[in-house]
Amino acid sequence: MLLKDKIAVISGGASGQGLASSRLFLTEGARVVIVDWNAEQGEKAVADLSSLGDVRFVACDLGQEPQVRAACDRILAEVGTPHILFNNAGIGYSEHGRFKMASIFDTPLEDWDAILRINLTGAFLMTKYLGEPMLDRKAGSIIFNTSIAGVVGQKNIDAYTASKGGLVSLTRALAHSLGEHGIRVNAIAPGTIDTPMIRPVLDQASTAERLAVIPLRRIGTPDDIAGLALFLASDHSAYVTGQIIACDGGRVAI
Ligand SMILES: NC(=O)c1ccc[n+]([C@@H]2O[C@H](COP(=O)([O-])OP(=O)(O)OC[C@H]3O[C@@H](n4cnc5c(N)ncnc54)[C@H](O)[C@@H]3O)[C@@H](O)[C@H]2O)c1
Repeated sequence: MLLKDKIAVISGGASGQGLASSRLFLTEGARVVIVDWNAEQGEKAVADLSSLGDVRFVACDLGQEPQVRAACDRILAEVGTPHILFNNAGIGYSEHGRFKMASIFDTPLEDWDAILRINLTGAFLMTKYLGEPMLDRKAGSIIFNTSIAGVVGQKNIDAYTASKGGLVSLTRALAHSLGEHGIRVNAIAPGTIDTPMIRPVLDQASTAERLAVIPLRRIGTPDDIAGLALFLASDHSAYVTGQIIACDGGRVAI
């Protein structure tokens, strides 16, 4: 078991990549705390995964600072200081009706603020409140879920790309500042991964059109991301920090 008795906090663990990572981390012996604003999905995840090990759910909207602080305080008091923090939650296409994924000219300021507050500020807050106690242990792994959209220019999702680019910079900056404390900080940059977030988008373009730009000629799965997250969480990546690792079937390599 690669994560035996390690405490792992996974934001957005109620769905998609976070859910797959929660499952894999549990099978590798971790105690998992899922943080998500979707209470129904979160409770369902706990019910589905509890046979695998110690998993619990903490409801929290990452866009609301008092909720993030309260969630982190609760985790520290009831579970303990995490060894692994996977800042995975994010808002994207699945919330089309709620926040606009569009060019800057078509993005209302409120949507810009909301997308950055959840995707970037939410990860900042989780890391601020849980990362500081991690310093005392002198060991730990922090993982951000960015996107290839944070690494290369993708058009017409400008607030989303800005939020993900912010996570790329934050990853490198924190790797620098936390390295001397034994904390590794890395980011996963997923390509197209089949999760509820992008179902509306997957339905828009033809499969052939999508696969033409992916050398491995398939859409990624949540398990593809979970495997990389496990590597970054475990001691197998003990000398890896400050890296933005694409998990995209080779899409940004061509
Ligand atoms: N699916 C893709 O193709 C793709 C590509 C690149 C990056 N990503 C990133 O991967 C991460 C995981 O997304 P996914 O594909 O698994 O999608 P998903 O929609 O299945 O999962 C996202 C989870 O985050 C939670 N969440 C969203 N906003 C939240 C908030 N304010 N507070 C708490 N929880 C919140 C959702 O409830 C959900 O459980 C996201 O950061 C996303 O931006 C996804």
